[in-house]
Amino acid sequence: MNPLRDAAEQARHRAYAPYSGFRVGAALETAEGTIVTGCNVGNASYGDTICAERGAVVAAVAAGHTSFRRLVLVSDSPEPISPCGSCRQVLHEFSRDLEIESWAGTVVRRWNIAELLPAGFGRESLS
Ligand code: THU
Repeated sequence: MNPLRDAAEQARHRAYAPYSGFRVGAALETAEGTIVTGCNVGNASYGDTICAERGAVVAAVAAGHTSFRRLVLVSDSPEPISPCGSCRQVLHEFSRDLEIESWAGTVVRRWNIAELLPAGFGRESLS
């Protein structure tokens, strides 16, 4: 039983990917234990496409959550995908010890955000 994975899988089915045909679902577990999902949203102006991970973060913040424990990804790829560079930076903003789990069928890979974005830029650098 993996409710986060189930939520990410459901979100993947809602992906809007008419150009890439590549569907991604993301599910974030907040510090409060709430699950918030996102899916990728493509655009005819390809560069304006939004990744599933950032969609989930934006939805979570709008719902009042700014701290996350775990992120689960499900994609159409034959291998588990890792978040793109922009999404890593956005995830790092909110949780320096986020656990990330990515599924492709029955294959799973796990990282934490510190591995994926070592020496990330953060708010402490702004003071
Ligand atoms: N995509 C995500 O949603 N998350 C990732 O981690 C990698 C890529 C989306 C963006 C675009 O809609 C499609 O996958 C192909 O790049």
